[in-house]
Amino acid sequence: MTESFDAVAYNRAAWDREVANGNEWTRPAGREVIDRARAGDWSVVLIGYRSVPRGWFPAELSGVEVLCLASGGGQQGPVLAAAGAAVTVLDNSPRQLDRDREVATRDGLAVRTVLGDMRDLSAFPDASFDVVFNPVSTVFCPELAPVWRDSFRVLRPGGILMTGFLNPDVFIFDVEALDERGELVVRHPLPFSSLDLPDDERERSYGTGPIEYSHSLAEQIGGQLAAGFTLTHFDEAPHHADATARYLPGYFATRAVRP
Ligand SMILES: C[S@@+](CC[C@H](N)C(=O)[O-])C[C@H]1O[C@@H](n2cnc3c(N)ncnc32)[C@H](O)[C@@H]1O
Repeated sequence: MTESFDAVAYNRAAWDREVANGNEWTRPAGREVIDRARAGDWSVVLIGYRSVPRGWFPAELSGVEVLCLASGGGQQGPVLAAAGAAVTVLDNSPRQLDRDREVATRDGLAVRTVLGDMRDLSAFPDASFDVVFNPVSTVFCPELAPVWRDSFRVLRPGGILMTGFLNPDVFIFDVEALDERGELVVRHPLPFSSLDLPDDERERSYGTGPIEYSHSLAEQIGGQLAAGFTLTHFDEAPHHADATARYLPGYFATRAVRP
């Protein structure tokens, strides 16, 4: 792959394929989950299968304007809408957004969907959301500074940014050894991108899946601080699906506020 590689175009098609292949992050919430959320019993995940602490959200969700950022798949957006929030889902994959519309139609929810790149939130005016909710997806985005800058801009003062992301250390390991034999073979210096691999190895290790970027903690946490956010909470969890889980947290999550 070349220097002029278009990550957004490639990953759009790749995530559309993930929907067709039934990737677990593309399977919409069931009707019973939505019914429970309507009754006030709801939870959403930012990292793996771990519920976000209720206290990370505003005490009252009714009428709160939430931007589910790169969060298609018919999961968090419809659940938050059923819990009373006014939800917009922005995602780069048309098929992922179809999932949100499917649930909204099935269960009579108002969910606005917007096709776009998480680095460009120009579809939204300044100070138009109370919460930006971003489950693990920055791993598919080549640069993060614009994501934090625009998230800050579209949040109202006092607004909350929640993001989940991969611990970059999981990228130092050889993926074939990890996935096929559960072995932790240290191989890649950071930063790493699956674009760095020869085409045949990337195909064996990642199949037709999206391109991934390790990103540093400086880009993730330092980037939020540089955009003007104040960090209020931090969480971590083992990766839900790989052998690194025995040794280190594969995921981090942050909650930050626009002062
Ligand atoms: C792992 S899924 C996250 C959504 C899922 N509901 C969840 O809980 O994990 C990653 C999502 O990020 C989206 N995505 C990847 N790159 C993006 C970009 N540059 N801009 C917007 N969305 C992007 C994908 O289309 C996909 O829906």
